[in-house]
Amino acid sequence: MHKHTLAILLGSTITFSSAVFADGHSDVKQLQTEGKKTIMDLATTLKKELTGAMKSGGPSEAIKVCNTKAAPLTDSVSEKHNWQVGRTSLKLRNPENQADSWEKAVLEKFQQQADEGADLAKLAYSEIITDASGQKVFRMMKAIPMGDKCLSCHGSEIKPGVAKQLDALYPEDNARGFSKGDLRGAFTLKKVL
Ligand code: HEC
Repeated sequence: MHKHTLAILLGSTITFSSAVFADGHSDVKQLQTEGKKTIMDLATTLKKELTGAMKSGGPSEAIKVCNTKAAPLTDSVSEKHNWQVGRTSLKLRNPENQADSWEKAVLEKFQQQADEGADLAKLAYSEIITDASGQKVFRMMKAIPMGDKCLSCHGSEIKPGVAKQLDALYPEDNARGFSKGDLRGAFTLKKVL
């Protein structure tokens, strides 16, 4: 882990040591605001697509949509906002969404907070890190809770037909067995400063 600790996780009031600002980086508050906007856009875009597909063809149609459209839609939101945005989880469905070590540590902290009863809607974390090439990068994550609409594909009573379809597309699928209110994963963002 980086020198800044993972102590600050609740709510949107995220504090940083003043050393972070010393070399004239953009204002962290501004970055958090931009990051949140990007997350909102991705969440809305994916939800709209999912809801439309569920309405027109149920889970089997919606799985196809998630499978083929989640990645290009995520890329287009990244480009539009000029942020790198994605989703990740400790229990993955799509191996492309694998967390790196920084993300894994934040997810583990989120899970710990969730176990202690934290309000997942408020669970977010951001930090400026220095990457392997010495580049300063602003990173941010926001928890994704399980809702009712997610159960048909991520819950513990997935219909046999749906399970079969998921088995075929995601042989390593680990993203089942969640209950409403569980921590499903997180949005993850990056911006090179
Ligand atoms: C129709 C089935 C379906 C429904 C309903 C569904 N998902 Fe998914 N989910 C998928 C599929 C398929 C993937 C893998 C493709 C992708 O999005 O990368 C996925 C991937 C994800 C990921 C990315 C991490 C990973 O494991 O790969 C998250 C986070 C996620 N879903 C959360 C949710 C949430 C929250 C809801 C409810 C709002 C939801 N899903 C509803 C099928 C579904």
